Amino acid sequence: MLHLLVLQLPSLLASRTCARTATSSSRAAASMLASTEIGKQGAAKPTIYFVMGGPGSGKGTQCEKLIQSYGMVHLSAGDLLRAEVKSGSAEGRKIAKIIEEGKIVVSETTVGLLRKAMSQAEGPFLIDGFPRSMSNLQAFEAEMGPCEFMLFLEVPLSTPSTPSLRPALVTDHRGPFVRAHARSPRSQVSEAEMEKRLLKRGVSSGRSDDNAETIRKRFHTFVSESMPVMDELERRGVVHKVSAEASADEVYSRVCETLGRHPRPVLPKE
Ligand code: ADP
Ligand code: C5P
Ligand code: MG
Repeated sequence: MLHLLVLQLPSLLASRTCARTATSSSRAAASMLASTEIGKQGAAKPTIYFVMGGPGSGKGTQCEKLIQSYGMVHLSAGDLLRAEVKSGSAEGRKIAKIIEEGKIVVSETTVGLLRKAMSQAEGPFLIDGFPRSMSNLQAFEAEMGPCEFMLFLEVPLSTPSTPSLRPALVTDHRGPFVRAHARSPRSQVSEAEMEKRLLKRGVSSGRSDDNAETIRKRFHTFVSESMPVMDELERRGVVHKVSAEASADEVYSRVCETLGRHPRPVLPKE
């Protein structure tokens, strides 16, 4: 299956117009959200908006913007895991190693942290960076029921299953080496942009995984572990894609429009 996430970039003219009007279009989208709301969520099952995307695609940035305008509770799986690391617990020490390796923490741990955080609020919940693997998805759904909405911040990343991919001799700072699959120029540009964002964030984030080596591993984990989840959810028709390759304001305006089409749109903040 083709996993190369090719985006339809707006024309130069359109993107200029969008950039100029990003704030006003965000406001328009916000009022559209307000006007389409259909009442408070039921008590039984909270509304959950999952937000996924590759490393550096802007999940945290978009969630921060959303909670400023809408009555949602933002839960970042990564933040919950980092808080556990900070607590100094034995579990936290295990988590720290996994994060540094750019791998995925055992689902029981992450779902347990989410369960605890969700029990302390009513929602609707904006859960960012989850589910990151099929195991994450299965563990969460076993407790909370099926995922009904996934906002996917799209960035073209190369995947081994893309048919046009083939072994290639490439060179980087380590010298020449054979890469198992060639990457399209498009995905190379996007990965470079995401890496740039993350390295810049690393200057002040203090995160153990915002370094070139771990970023490379995180991209790999995203493609091999997280993309199958997106494929599965896409088959179910619950994935809503938004191109993440634009200014944060422009992406936000697209996000608001997408959320406004949800059958149970989020309520604006009081
Ligand atoms: P994620 O949570 O998906 O890893 P973040 O929201 O933390 O990504 O964003 C990663 C970095 O990129 C942050 O430093 C953020 O300020 C920056 N960033 C987020 N969105 C954009 C964007 N659309 N354009 C440029 N930089 C961005
Ligand atoms: O989403 P964020 O970038 O904050 O995640 C940081 C790291 O936390 C991931 O690279 C991964 O090691 C870990 N994580 C995880 N399972 C999740 C979310 C994050 O293992 N569902
Ligand atoms: Mg994040």
